[in-house]
Amino acid sequence: MTVRLVVLVSGSGSNLQALLDATADPSYGASVVAVGSDRPDIEGLTRAAKHDVPTFVAAVRDFAARDDWDAFLTASCERFAPDLIVSAGFMKLVGPRFLASFEGRYVNTHNALLPAFPGMHGPRDALTYGVKLAGATLHFVDSGVDTGAIIAQVAVPVLDDDTEDTLLERIKVAERRQLVDTVGRMAREGWTVNERKVRLGRG
Ligand code: GRF
Repeated sequence: MTVRLVVLVSGSGSNLQALLDATADPSYGASVVAVGSDRPDIEGLTRAAKHDVPTFVAAVRDFAARDDWDAFLTASCERFAPDLIVSAGFMKLVGPRFLASFEGRYVNTHNALLPAFPGMHGPRDALTYGVKLAGATLHFVDSGVDTGAIIAQVAVPVLDDDTEDTLLERIKVAERRQLVDTVGRMAREGWTVNERKVRLGRG
């Protein structure tokens, strides 16, 4: 069985690209069946189109109420009958309808070692704080900001001369590898969650 992935993006989509490349191999166990964005004209959508993957745009400003946006995003994903939805640089918090449909099957990759530095500026906040290890976290999404159960983490060093950009790039290399490895394992082996403890494999 091939696990059906919908990937949500807001920007350059390098994590999406890593997934598109990995899913080209049938033994990976998953395929990207659609890509959604909250913005038109982003590189992530172009990357999807190059792979003949259908796309949709759900822009918050096109809806009178946030709840209507949430309903549209939910329906747009449901159309593709996903097994797993991956937020790969999707910079919007989903609402209650989306979570009612997909909680437990919606994962996000965040560019910090949670629970430290949640939110929009993980690498910048880590650099400012002066930590010596930064990294990325793949986690389930719940109704909080980057608070859901952690699936995988990877650490990279913070170097003395790092700028936000150099640290971000180092994190993203490790983040993409982790995303591809972990989503593949989730697809092939399944997972269990006991309270906050996520275990890959059929336990
Ligand atoms: C990733 O580092 C992700 O953690 C953060 O935004 C970045 C998205 O990068 N939320 P890309 O669009 O996949 O290149």
